[in-house]
Amino acid sequence: MRMYDIIEKKKNKLSLTKEEIEFFVNGYVANEIPDYQVSSLLMAIVLNGMDDLEVTNLTLAMANSGDKLNLNFNAVDKHSTGGVGDKTTLIITPIVACLDCKVAKMSGKGLGYTGGTIDKLESIPGFKVQLDDDKFINQINDINVSIISQTKNIAPADKKIYALRDVTATVESIPLIASSIMSKKIASGAKNLVLDIKVGSGAFMKNLIDASKLGQTMVNIGKNASINTVAILTNMNEPLGNNIGNNLEVLEAIEVLKGNGPKDLTDISIELASYMVSITKNINYEEAKTKVIEVLDSGKALNKFYELVKYQGGDISKLNHTSKYEYKVYSKKSGYITKMDTAKIGKISSMLGAGRIKKDDLIDYNAGIVLNKKINDYVNKNDLLATLYTDKKIDLINDYLDSIEITDNKVNNDLILGVIK
Ligand code: URA
Repeated sequence: MRMYDIIEKKKNKLSLTKEEIEFFVNGYVANEIPDYQVSSLLMAIVLNGMDDLEVTNLTLAMANSGDKLNLNFNAVDKHSTGGVGDKTTLIITPIVACLDCKVAKMSGKGLGYTGGTIDKLESIPGFKVQLDDDKFINQINDINVSIISQTKNIAPADKKIYALRDVTATVESIPLIASSIMSKKIASGAKNLVLDIKVGSGAFMKNLIDASKLGQTMVNIGKNASINTVAILTNMNEPLGNNIGNNLEVLEAIEVLKGNGPKDLTDISIELASYMVSITKNINYEEAKTKVIEVLDSGKALNKFYELVKYQGGDISKLNHTSKYEYKVYSKKSGYITKMDTAKIGKISSMLGAGRIKKDDLIDYNAGIVLNKKINDYVNKNDLLATLYTDKKIDLINDYLDSIEITDNKVNNDLILGVIK
């Protein structure tokens, strides 16, 4: 088999066989196929696409390229395609753990304008995100939930291919994004998976048509790999909740678990948790939702969160939010907020110190933004729109103002845009 012929085949819009896909994935991981040939094939895939069988074979080849976590229980996982202010993992995992669903969660650090669950958890003093396999599994057997940083050699082919995509303008491709995410999910052992596909100005997928295609592709891969998979399409035209930034987001997650959180964040958490419980316990969505609301209202989910934090060495009583500077952003005009450039707001939060531009950058757990007004809120001139928290002397007030549009009429702003099963 020759890599040249595989590239030629995809260039001519033909489907690749399982053997051809495994040849290029395994050859690339083994350093037997050079970057330039793989980049050329990736570009052909971006331009000519892949059918369902090819995407499944690509996903499985990447999932099989490294370690696989062998979970001997019916684990459930949730994956978000990445957003701003998305702290749902902190809320949902204790909820579903209260309902006897086991969550073995491996999460990532934030990069670029989207945050990462691991950074949020590390903002809790003492919280350990690195556990060896035995401790991880024992904890799940004991309290149904553990969240750790992905340290194992999970899907190394994806890691190598993703790094190449990043520098060859081949990230934005539905088959490549779907196979990248699903290869890691398959290797990490979940039998049930809820995907939160973000759509809008702060997401990879800017419109509903592309998001639906991505969701359907991932659900198909899940089914072909015997994983119960549901994809929920959710609005990312504004940040989720009111807080952006690591310990600010933990504090807001706790407010949701106490029943005092913002409506959008609470509603989306209930939705995602209900689907997780429904597919894992094989009960209908309405029944699952009743149970989810019950553990939330009773305070059981809050106690489960505290139990999780304590189990992993964290001390929630030491979590307090402080920062050297507070920059208040006041509105220059009156009207309804109709647009928020969410990616730009995420970048502002990163520049304040909450995120990384490069993989090894240090972050400031206290930095971030608290939003006072969001889409469809009416603002008067000089009303407080947001407060920017940072330890740096950095003025981003005008950048924040530029990311918001204020007009005379409200806009449609539904939170849940579709469900793909
Ligand atoms: N996240 C991933 O893990 N892979 C992609 O290709 C895009 C987002």
